[in-house]
Amino acid sequence: LLSDAEKAAVVSVWAKASGNVNALGGEALERLFLSFPQTKTYFSHFDLSAGSQDLQVHGGKVLGAIGEATKHIDNLESALSKLSDLHAYNLRVDPGNFRLLSHTIQVTLAAHFQAEFDATAQAAWDKFLAAISTVLTSKYR
Ligand code: HEM
Repeated sequence: LLSDAEKAAVVSVWAKASGNVNALGGEALERLFLSFPQTKTYFSHFDLSAGSQDLQVHGGKVLGAIGEATKHIDNLESALSKLSDLHAYNLRVDPGNFRLLSHTIQVTLAAHFQAEFDATAQAAWDKFLAAISTVLTSKYR
């Protein structure tokens, strides 16, 4: 699905981000909730104020899962199988929201890693996050 060059671009940006998952993930969620307020409905049990503990911890979980996926780019379906069950059967997140989160993750990476996150790397990340989203929305029915 991803070319070798695209995989390398994903991995090299991840190497920059991996040490700071709570802050970066929290920022991606903050951007999600500010730009697309309808997505807040899934998180009514969270404190959604900027920089909150809930945003940081959940952001860390989301980016942690993405980091794990960088190790299994050729095998996303089995690597993300549990998360796929969770989002489809338990959470029932509208699949359209995955595009929105993928977007705010990319904006966050662009804001922090300007040099590494060039146009080629961004296109690779867009493809990678779309592949993850496809797996996480594959069990809806
Ligand atoms: C939970 C990852 C997209 C809503 C989670 C968890 C992870 C995760 C790792 C925690 C699972 C656990 O505790 O075992 C991801 C990834 C996504 C994604 C990698 C896409 C790249 C979304 C989207 C929404 C969403 C688009 C809704 C707008 C939720 C909710 C929970 C959750 C409501 C449960 C939160 C809680 O109560 O702790 N997700 N997610 N996710 N996700 Fe996602």
